[in-house]
Amino acid sequence: MGIGIAQVAATSGCEVFLYDANAAQTEKSVLNLQKTLDKLVGKEKISLEKSEEIFKRIKACSNLSDLKDCDLVIEAIIENKEIKTGVFKKLEDIVSEDCVIGSNTSSISITSLSAELTKPERFIGIHFFNPAPLMPLVEVIPGLLTDKNLPRQIYDLMGEWGKIPVIAKDVPGFIVNRIARPFYGEALRIVEENIATPEQVDDAVKTLGNFKMGPFELMDLIGIDINFSVTKTVYQDYFYDPKYKPSLLQQRMSEAKFLGRKTGKGFYDYSEGAEKPFPEKDEELYETIFQRIISMLINEAVEAKRLGIASDEDLELAIQKGVNYPKGLLAWGKEIGFDKISETLQNLYEEYQEERYRQSPLLKKM
Ligand SMILES: NC(=O)c1ccc[n+]([C@@H]2O[C@H](COP(=O)([O-])OP(=O)(O)OC[C@H]3O[C@@H](n4cnc5c(N)ncnc54)[C@H](O)[C@@H]3O)[C@@H](O)[C@H]2O)c1
Repeated sequence: MGIGIAQVAATSGCEVFLYDANAAQTEKSVLNLQKTLDKLVGKEKISLEKSEEIFKRIKACSNLSDLKDCDLVIEAIIENKEIKTGVFKKLEDIVSEDCVIGSNTSSISITSLSAELTKPERFIGIHFFNPAPLMPLVEVIPGLLTDKNLPRQIYDLMGEWGKIPVIAKDVPGFIVNRIARPFYGEALRIVEENIATPEQVDDAVKTLGNFKMGPFELMDLIGIDINFSVTKTVYQDYFYDPKYKPSLLQQRMSEAKFLGRKTGKGFYDYSEGAEKPFPEKDEELYETIFQRIISMLINEAVEAKRLGIASDEDLELAIQKGVNYPKGLLAWGKEIGFDKISETLQNLYEEYQEERYRQSPLLKKM
C-alpha cells in the first residue's frame, strides 16, 4: 500500500520520502512504481515528462531519520499495533512538532494508536483502499484525542490529491469494512447451509443487484484469509456482536490455504484450463438470496446512520467509491422500501431466532 500512497502524493506534486524497514522491499516497490509509470505512459494516460517528475519526487530512504523534514507522515506498515506504535515513538523524536502523523490501518483503533504518542492530537487515520492510485475513496478518521481541526485539513488535502475523502468515526471497520460485512457474511451462511452454491449467490447479486462482482468472486480476489481476518477483527472489536460472527466455512478455507486467486484455488478454481461452474438459474432462489443480502447491507447502513458513524452523504459515497457498489445503500433502501427490508429481516429473525438478524431501531422510522 505504501508505494501506492507515495504515487498518489507525488502525482499531486508532493515530495515523498519512502521508508521501509526492509530495504529490499523499498527497492522492489520503486522498481514496481517505475513499471506502473511506464505502463501509464504507454497507454498515454500521462506524458513521459510527467512520469519522470513523479518518479523524481519519490526518494527512497534507508533510515527513518531521513523523514525529519516531512510535514505529514503516512504509516502503512504491517498491521500490528505494537510494531506501529514503536515506529510512531521513534518518529516523534525525529519529525518537527507540527508534523502530522497518519495511519493507513484497516482495523486498529485510531484512538488506541494515538494514546501511545507524546502528542496524540497530531495523529489521525488516513485509510486508502487498494490499489491506492486507482481507488478514489479515502476514509479520514479522527480519534478521540485528535485535534479538532485536523480532520478538515486532511480532508482538504485528500481532495487536492484527487481523492474522494469521507470523515468516519473511529469504530471497528470504520465505514466500508463495517457496512460491507454482511455482503460476505450472509453469502457465506447461505452456502454453508446448502441453500445455494457460490456461483448461484454470485450470479444472483450480479443479475438482481447489478454488483460488478459477487461476494465469492470478491473474496477470492481480496484473499480469503485477509477477508476472514477483517471479519474476525470487527467481530472481536464489537465485543462479539453476533451480527458480525465469522463463518466456519471461511475458517476452513483459510486453514486449507484455499485463499483465492493468489493460491490458485478459493471458492473457484484458477488453475490452468479450469472452467468456472455454470450457475443453475432459479428465479425464486435468486430473489431470496438477493433480498437476504441486500436487506442485511441496508440494515447495516441504517444503523451506521443512527450511530452517526458518518454523514448520510459520506455513507453513500464510501460504499460506492470504496467497494464499487452500484448505489448508495440508504438510497437503495428507499427504492426497495424500508418496510420490505424490515419484513425480510423479521422473517429471518423468526426463522433463526438469532440476534444476527436484529433490526436497527432506525429502520422502522425511515
Ligand atoms: N492491502 C490492503 O488491501 C490494504 C488496504 C487498506 C489498508 N491497508 C493497511 O495498510 C497497511 C499495510 O498493508 P500492506 O498490505 O501494504 O502490507 P504489506 O505487508 O504488503 O507491507 C507492509 C510493509 O511494512 C514493512 N514494515 C514492517 N515493519 C516495519 C517497520 N517497523 N518499519 C518500517 N516498515 C516496516 C514491511 O517490510 C512491508 O514492506 C496495514 O496497516 C494494512 O492494514 C492495507
